[in-house]
Amino acid sequence: MTRPIIIAPSILSADFARLGEEVRAVDAAGADWIHLDVMDGHFVPNITFGPPVVKAIRSASRKTFDCHLMIAPADPFLASFADAGCDIITVHAEAGPHLDRSLQAIRALGKKAGVSLNPSTPESVVEYVLDRLDLILVMTVNPGFGGQAFIPAVVEKVRRLKAMIGTRPIDIEVDGGVTPQTAPLVTAAGANVLVAGSAVFRGEDRDAYAANIRAIRDAAQGGATT
Ligand code: DX5
Ligand code: ZN
Repeated sequence: MTRPIIIAPSILSADFARLGEEVRAVDAAGADWIHLDVMDGHFVPNITFGPPVVKAIRSASRKTFDCHLMIAPADPFLASFADAGCDIITVHAEAGPHLDRSLQAIRALGKKAGVSLNPSTPESVVEYVLDRLDLILVMTVNPGFGGQAFIPAVVEKVRRLKAMIGTRPIDIEVDGGVTPQTAPLVTAAGANVLVAGSAVFRGEDRDAYAANIRAIRDAAQGGATT
């Protein structure tokens, strides 16, 4: 069974002075989900935003808010992100010792649960939590910054995860360095959700976003032959 291709622009590359307008613009340009990169300056070497900002932009789009928590610990903040309007909440496997507990907590809040893996983290960390998962976010850069180069070695991990999840209804999301050039590599390996920051929020003005999203989607669909 194939899952639909989903394009999730990361607002990390948006104009933060005009965040509401930027979210509205990528929504209108064809984004399927809005990807929210939350960083704490501790788990990753950068700081972005928290629940009040998510809440402030919630009214700018009705699309799925896909929240990528790059924070440690994550558990004390899950309820705040759920209340702020996140639909999917993803924690990093490396961010705490009790991944199973974190995933249970997210589902208990009525949200979809995801786990993210850094490039060096093996796929085996999700083997015993598959039944608690709606999404696996595979990092193809080291988290912390937009605009980094895609790490090709991680494509093999996507392939292994696809085989591991079998027929379970779990999305495989890829994040970092996704462009029309790299998108088909990951969809061919089994990914169906593509995050893109710098490849979406570029161009002369916001009129470019629709073509940027379409180029990634067309390239991704070309790879998704299985
Ligand atoms: C990195 C973030 C990514 C990042 C992607 O820590 O999780 O979502 O914004 O940016 P690009 O698409 O520019 O690599
Ligand atoms: Zn992300």
